[in-house]
Amino acid sequence: MVEIVQKIKDEFELAFSQVKDKASLMNLKSEYVGKSGKIGLILKSLKDADVETKQQVGKDSNLLKGEVEQMITEKIKSFELEEINKNLEKKKIDISLRSSLQDKGLSSAGFHPVSAIQREIEDIFVSMGFDILDGPHIEDDYHNFEALNIPANHPARDMQDTFWFKDMKHLLRTHTSSIQVRGMESKQPPFKFVGPGKVFRCEATDASHEMVFHQLEGMMVGENISVANLIYFMKTLLSEIFKKETNVRLRPGFFPFVEPGFELDIECLICGGKGCSVCKQSGWVELLPCGMVHPNVLKYGNIDTSKYNGFAFGLGLDRLVMMRYGIDDIRNLHSGDLRFVSQFAEF
Ligand code: DAH
Repeated sequence: MVEIVQKIKDEFELAFSQVKDKASLMNLKSEYVGKSGKIGLILKSLKDADVETKQQVGKDSNLLKGEVEQMITEKIKSFELEEINKNLEKKKIDISLRSSLQDKGLSSAGFHPVSAIQREIEDIFVSMGFDILDGPHIEDDYHNFEALNIPANHPARDMQDTFWFKDMKHLLRTHTSSIQVRGMESKQPPFKFVGPGKVFRCEATDASHEMVFHQLEGMMVGENISVANLIYFMKTLLSEIFKKETNVRLRPGFFPFVEPGFELDIECLICGGKGCSVCKQSGWVELLPCGMVHPNVLKYGNIDTSKYNGFAFGLGLDRLVMMRYGIDDIRNLHSGDLRFVSQFAEF
């Protein structure tokens, strides 16, 4: 290596060995391999040298440039890694520490049972390949009714059931079925998703009715979807939730957005189908409405009905929580009474 290149190399190596942070490394980089860096200038400084020397120096300085660049890149990486490790160290959480709430004799928070069951069900659906969608609480007539094949004079639109805004164009969604419409707007078939959330009904409250409650909507659209697919997913879901094999049956049910529509019942988990007070001696408990998506709904969603069809269902989450924990009044769920919710807190 011609002397002058060696000299620059030694100089660089010394400076490099003293670099302590990324900023000075970047300075070094531009000093040596930048546009008018020292290595680039070597050749220019040899104006009077003979051709052979120039060629040799050219070769050597190129080699050196490559080496320097590589050393700098590796060093940058190691600085970055150091930085990440430092940050991780700073953010370390000691999970064995007791919470200060516990020290004060207060219980720490847990999920509200409705949120807990919602998360559990979301996980089950995600494991079956469903997406999770969200939709707004304040909806318009189109998403809550019209696009779901609920004609203008349908009783579900009745002022008594719906909280309308003053403009009479917006409302608090009365069901999560509006998420079906939003899902079709944002997705191309085939797709399957669930959409959980609060729903609002303007009705008197009693032990089994609340003005605000929770549903989880489901929709699957694809080619050749059948009732058998619907039953399969529902049975899998229920077996996961109740941790045992559940038997289901379908009865006809009417909802404008499905055809045919069903009420899905599960065999009573309390008496195993023999008949008890919970299932009113019938052996079956009504659980969720569902059906094959009405072609009009698919058309509103711009879906080619000659190719695709699908199923949909609406699961009432509050009801499920009540069944799971034997809660006999829905109003307890959202009373905000700490004596009630603290039963579900987890340490
Ligand atoms: N949206 C209906 C309600 O709140 C429930 C429902 C019924 C949802 C049938 C569905 C369905 O997806 O297919 O009463």
